[in-house]
Amino acid sequence: MSIASQPALIDRFGRRINYVRLSVTDRCDLRCVYCMSEDMTFVPRSQLLTLEEMARVGRVFVQLGVSKIRLTGGEPLTRRNIVRLCEELGELEGLRDLTMTTNGTQLTTYAAALKQAGLTRLNISLDTLKPERFRQLTRMGDINKTLAGIDAALEQGFERIKLNAVVLKHRNHDEVLDLVEFAFNKGLDISFIEEMPLGAISEHSRAEAYYSSDEILRDLREYYDLQPIVAHTGGPSKYYAVAGSDRRVGFISPHSHNFCGDCNRVRVTAEGRLLLCLGQEHSVDLRRILRANPLDDEPLLQALQEAMQIKPFGHEFEVTQAKEQVVRYMNMTGG
Ligand code: 5AD
Ligand code: SF4
Repeated sequence: MSIASQPALIDRFGRRINYVRLSVTDRCDLRCVYCMSEDMTFVPRSQLLTLEEMARVGRVFVQLGVSKIRLTGGEPLTRRNIVRLCEELGELEGLRDLTMTTNGTQLTTYAAALKQAGLTRLNISLDTLKPERFRQLTRMGDINKTLAGIDAALEQGFERIKLNAVVLKHRNHDEVLDLVEFAFNKGLDISFIEEMPLGAISEHSRAEAYYSSDEILRDLREYYDLQPIVAHTGGPSKYYAVAGSDRRVGFISPHSHNFCGDCNRVRVTAEGRLLLCLGQEHSVDLRRILRANPLDDEPLLQALQEAMQIKPFGHEFEVTQAKEQVVRYMNMTGG
C-alpha cells in the first residue's frame, strides 16, 4: 500500500488524529478536589469495556495511523490486570509511544512490570510537596506513597518522566517554584495545568481558584531563565527550556491559551464512549459496536473514520462562567 492510500484519521478541519487517550477505569484511590466530588458514584463494572475490548480499540486505532496511546483514568493502576493490557498494546507494530498518567501511589508495586510491558513514558500527578496539603487536595492521600512511586519509576530507568501539577490559587500556587526545584533535582520535567471546568464540584469556586499559566511563568522567571521551545507537539502544552539545562517546564492552559487549532487527539472513556473533544459532548458509543461485532473489526474501523466528521473545532472553557459546560468529571473523561 502506498503511504497516500494508507488509512488515516483526518477530521473536517484537516487535523490528523494520531494520539488516543484511553481511560481504563473511572475509579481512583484518591479524590482530588478539582477532579471529583466527595461522594462519587462510579460506573458499574459490567458497563466498563473489558481489557480485551480495550486492546481491540487500541489495535484498530493503530491500524488507522495512531502512533501514541496514553492510558488514563481515574487511576489506571486501580484497574485489575492493567499490566496485561500494557503488554498487548506494547506489542502493536506502529505504536511508537505507550504512556500512562498516574497518581503514583502504586508505582512501587507496578513500575517494573510496566517497564517490562513496554510502557515508554510516565506522567505522575503531584500538586504539592507538603504532606498536610496533599492530604487536603486529594481528600485522603499519603504523599509518601506518591514520592516513593516517583523514585520507583526513576529506578526502572523510565526516561523523561513528567510531573503534572494542577495549580489552584491560595491552595498551592505558592509552591510552583518548589515543585520545579523538586522536579529538576530528580531529573524530571514538570507541567503546570490550569483547572478545567469538568463536572460539578462544590469544594471550591473554580473562578476564585484560577491561577493562570502566565502568572506561574512570571513567578518562575524570577529565578529561572525560561526560553520558549518553538517545536510544537500537536498538543495543548507549551514548553519552556531552562537555559543551560535540558529540563523543561510545560504549561497546559485551557483558559488562557486556546490550543484547539492543532488538536491531534481523541479520548475513549472507560465505558467505551469515544469523545471527540475534551470540552464538548460529541461522542460515539464504541462499546455497542464492539459487542455487536465480536469477531469483525471492520465496523469499528469505519465508525472511527466516520467519527472524524463530528469532531468539533474546539472547546469553549470560560473561567468566569458559573456553570460547568461539561457535565462529565475528569475521572470519566480521562485526565
Ligand atoms: N482540571 C485540570 N486537570 C485536572 N485533572 C483532573 N481533574 C482536572 C481538572 N478539573 C488532572 C490531574 C491529573 C490528570 C489525571 O488530570 O491532576 O494530572
Ligand atoms: Fe484520582 Fe487523578 Fe482524579 Fe486525583 S486527579 S482523584 S489522582 S483521577
